[in-house]
Amino acid sequence: MKDADCVAFLQWALPRLGLRWPGFRKVRRQVCRRIARRLETLGLPDLVAYRSRLEADPAEWAALDALCHITISRFLRDRAVWEALVRDVLPTLARAALARTDRRLRAWSAGCASGEEPYGLAIAWALAVRPELPDVALEIVASDADDAMLRRAASACYAAGSLRELPAPWRMAAFERRAGTFCLRARFREGIELRCEDVRVDQPEGPFDLVLCRNLAFTYFDAEAQRDFLGRIAERLRPGGALVLGRHERLPEDERFAPWPAAPCVFRRCGVEARA
Ligand SMILES: C[S@@+](CC[C@H](N)C(=O)[O-])C[C@H]1O[C@@H](n2cnc3c(N)ncnc32)[C@H](O)[C@@H]1O
Repeated sequence: MKDADCVAFLQWALPRLGLRWPGFRKVRRQVCRRIARRLETLGLPDLVAYRSRLEADPAEWAALDALCHITISRFLRDRAVWEALVRDVLPTLARAALARTDRRLRAWSAGCASGEEPYGLAIAWALAVRPELPDVALEIVASDADDAMLRRAASACYAAGSLRELPAPWRMAAFERRAGTFCLRARFREGIELRCEDVRVDQPEGPFDLVLCRNLAFTYFDAEAQRDFLGRIAERLRPGGALVLGRHERLPEDERFAPWPAAPCVFRRCGVEARA
């Protein structure tokens, strides 16, 4: 399949899925390879035939949507963000939980891939935050639309490359070597719920103190889907809570969110919590 043909096809198809071409520009080859395999499976000669198939068969759009999931992730991706989370954001959220006598912090990792993000959060919490704030427990809900990714998350074993941004003492504390892979020790998986959900359709019930939505909605969704999903996040995030984006993502203009001081890619949910 020629790159130019695949690009033209994606520029036609992505907006119909509520997705945006610029988000896919750099990663398109991965998607184009999957589409080529799909054509083989369907016995179709080229993208013109696939386009006719999509126009005739609405169910095929769901298959194409699944081919567009970009699943790259790794532990503590974007170290500067994690340093700010550990130094300031998580302790601030934990102290706010204590002030409302909650002793429990709830986080949602939306688009969690194979677990690198929620497990990275659990490791950072257990090794760097909890020792100072032992009375607060962290619960994490992690959702992804891709069932295969969630099965890998459930097995929690990773190649060395996925761990390359983890400080060595954290890697040694959190993982054990098994058959050439690094498997997360059981205590770092406690309090983490994995859910297979399309964030455009289903979102876990709030309130959350922290939402990580990195390298998903604000990269791949079109403007309308971004605004819609941001509304869902705003409904689920407590006032004073934090929303974390990916390093190359921009938050749509929204008066419910303001940059978290000195924490790159982190936004504070504005407003005051209603008292019970
Ligand atoms: C690029 S990965 C990002 C993983 C992690 N958040 C990070 O930044 O390292 C994007 C993840 O979002 C998932 N995804 C894509 N579309 C989704 C949707 N509509 N609902 C839920 N998950 C989705 C993909 O399966 C993939 O695992």
